[in-house]
Amino acid sequence: MRHTKVKELLNSASTLPEVNAKGWVRTFRNNQFIALNDGSTINNIQCVVDFENTPDEILKRITTGASVSVTGALVESKGAGQKYEIQVANLEILGDSDPEKFPMQPKKHSMEFLRENAHLRVRTNAFGAIMRVRSVLSFAVHSYFQEKGFVYVNTPIITGSDAEGAGEMFKVTALSFDKTPRTEDGKVNYKEDFFGKETNLTVSGQLEGETFAMALGQIYTFGPTFRAENSNTSRHLAEFWMIEPEVAFNDLNDNMDLAEEFIQYVIKYALEKCPEDLKFLEARLLDEEKSKPQAERSEMALLDKLDFVLKNNFKRVSYTEAIDILRNCTPNKKKKFNYIINEWGADLQSEHERYLVEKHFKCPVILFDYPANIKAFYMRLNDNTAPGKETVRAMDILFPGIGEIVGGSQREERFDVLIEKMKALNIDEQELSWYLDTRRFGSAVHSGFGLGFERLVLFVTGMTNIRDVIPFPRTPGSAEF
Ligand code: 4AD
Ligand code: MG
Repeated sequence: MRHTKVKELLNSASTLPEVNAKGWVRTFRNNQFIALNDGSTINNIQCVVDFENTPDEILKRITTGASVSVTGALVESKGAGQKYEIQVANLEILGDSDPEKFPMQPKKHSMEFLRENAHLRVRTNAFGAIMRVRSVLSFAVHSYFQEKGFVYVNTPIITGSDAEGAGEMFKVTALSFDKTPRTEDGKVNYKEDFFGKETNLTVSGQLEGETFAMALGQIYTFGPTFRAENSNTSRHLAEFWMIEPEVAFNDLNDNMDLAEEFIQYVIKYALEKCPEDLKFLEARLLDEEKSKPQAERSEMALLDKLDFVLKNNFKRVSYTEAIDILRNCTPNKKKKFNYIINEWGADLQSEHERYLVEKHFKCPVILFDYPANIKAFYMRLNDNTAPGKETVRAMDILFPGIGEIVGGSQREERFDVLIEKMKALNIDEQELSWYLDTRRFGSAVHSGFGLGFERLVLFVTGMTNIRDVIPFPRTPGSAEF
């Protein structure tokens, strides 16, 4: 007999004379009630064991974490909380779990303990819910872009370029550390390396993505990206997943429209497909916040917050306006910020971004037209800006509780202007000659953005640390599993 998923059993239209379920024991109460979970839903199915007619040796092996197969009638449950339960006629222990040793006890564990046990934490309610929501959000990403006719492009993981020009890259090499080949001037001789040149893990698929947008019109990437930045924060990972659409003939306004519509689509999708998981996560967040001072608690419950993002336009504000707001705000005047905003040109820190979103506007914000010298080389220089006050057509989307969730821009499509910029920043033209070909041959206005997938999952699940929304987090000093 084939086993039926717990989700299907709980949603059954009627009682059934005989069903089989397989899963892992969450709890076993009174020598009688198994709460069985198989990962198909947050809900367990209650399996009622006829303990009087079950040998003691078997009863003793029904422990938290054990995998079992139960067969019996699906009957209406007398207990509160579930419509159906299984009246167990036959129970088989598939895999024992020593209750003295199994780390995931049915009690509250600290987040740190769960991170150390990332291979087992997925057996808890919270992590099961998070991972199902993450999966649904991934599908929603593809669904949105595929419905709109975007082409999915797999940009390389190993690359020779530094797309962001920030130099925070993991090197990829097959050279031996013991016998590193050197050039005459003592530098590492990458000509002898696997690819015959210096290579690294990609920090962004954008540059390769642009070349495809200039042929296929609208493309998106969705893949892993790597950053060797030593940021030990609750918002940074060394390995994270990024979604990068790139669209020919879109200007910055079109780009903002696309980002806003896309984010609202995927959130709506998750709300529709994961109501039970999100309800559970909402309750989890409420519970977590009970231990926080009132001022640090969210103003809205999780589902209200998600609904709010769907129903309200993102507020679009220029960098210049934002600086005026920040310069004159109370925390700046009272020197409460770690970085005081004195003048135009300052780079915004996450404390400033969160002030704008959480305290000032109280809704998602799109900041645009940033000073040229705090943004990447490929961004479109605005026409008619005063010397020393040059701005670029950049946009960052800031979310409550998250800070920056999206970074994007209209791209510099003018060959001469782009070359000037690269020269000024000492970026090797030869190395990026292939990228410059997009501007040499049939250049056109185009725009795109990158959305950090884990930051989206953080927002939707109401989790507060990015390490808890990716299966096996990689952060400075930690690459377990
Ligand atoms: O702002 P970033 O660096 O932009 C780019 O990489 C552009 N090439 C994107 C583009 O225009 N195609 O990164 C984009 C987003 C950020 O807004 C953030 O959400 C996420 O990627 N991100 C990270 N997420 C987790 N951990 C990190 N270390 C991240 N760094 C960036
Ligand atoms: Mg950014």
